[in-house]
Amino acid sequence: MTIRKAVLPVAGFGTRVLPATKSIPKEMLPVIDRPAIDYVVDEALTAGIEHIVFVTGRNKGAIEDYFDRAFELETSLEQRGESKRDILRSVQRTTLPAGSASFVRQQSPLGLGHAIWCARDIIGNEPFAILLPDVIVRASPSCLAQMVAAYNETGGNILAVDAVPEADVSKYGVISPKERNGRLIEMDGMVEKPAREQAPSNLKITGRYILQPEIFNLLEDQGAGAGGEIQLTDAMARLMETQSFFAFEYDGKDYDCGSVLGYFEAVLGHAVHHPDIGGQVEDLIERLAAEMKASRTR
Ligand code: G1P
Repeated sequence: MTIRKAVLPVAGFGTRVLPATKSIPKEMLPVIDRPAIDYVVDEALTAGIEHIVFVTGRNKGAIEDYFDRAFELETSLEQRGESKRDILRSVQRTTLPAGSASFVRQQSPLGLGHAIWCARDIIGNEPFAILLPDVIVRASPSCLAQMVAAYNETGGNILAVDAVPEADVSKYGVISPKERNGRLIEMDGMVEKPAREQAPSNLKITGRYILQPEIFNLLEDQGAGAGGEIQLTDAMARLMETQSFFAFEYDGKDYDCGSVLGYFEAVLGHAVHHPDIGGQVEDLIERLAAEMKASRTR
């Protein structure tokens, strides 16, 4: 069955980047000239997703507005003619087609597993994707598009993974790998935020998933796990008892925008690869690096 729907959980407070996120959703922080969430929605759309379910919370209205049509703004840009044509197009590009987005609220911050469960009625009985908007993946084809292509061969459930330094494993969900077949890895377990000495590998779950709808029955009665939260990883580990799971080492680079440094790296990475300013940014970085070196030797 084709993957038509995707869930984007966007209810989190963004505590790690306060006070920047005090009055705007963390997903709306700009990465060069687009909010972070725009990259993630784009990834979903280029993978063939037709309907996006945003799991939101209080103070997240800016996300809904961003993907809506901005009638007054568009009219004003239209009236200003040819000179504003490109800007108008860039604004129109952000409007999701009518009826292709739903918004449900997660009323209490009970964890990622609970957020995904809140989307159950809109997903219904079909396989679906999850994209965690804290993570931006720069890849071509997009990370989810690569996963959909793999899924069309394997079926079952697929998680994007990538290697992290061993010191960082306790920040993530980590898989236990078995046989490798190209980019696909058979797995025999996963654990959320393991202690470094207990981690089964250094392959972290990136934040891109293709899952079967049976996950919802398991999320329904999933108890709290790591950090006292209802964890998606724990429900997936249970689903693995009856269904096949593959880890997928995608070709691309991920940026964890949930932390200040990760967000800065995302901005820098996208600046360097930006079609208009990339060259100038490289020059700028070289100049700054030279200045820093000079000031150190002074
Ligand atoms: C979540 C998932 C975790 C995954 C991570 C990726 O954790 O629970 O398995 O590795 O996203 O960023 P969180 O960042 O919400 O703590």
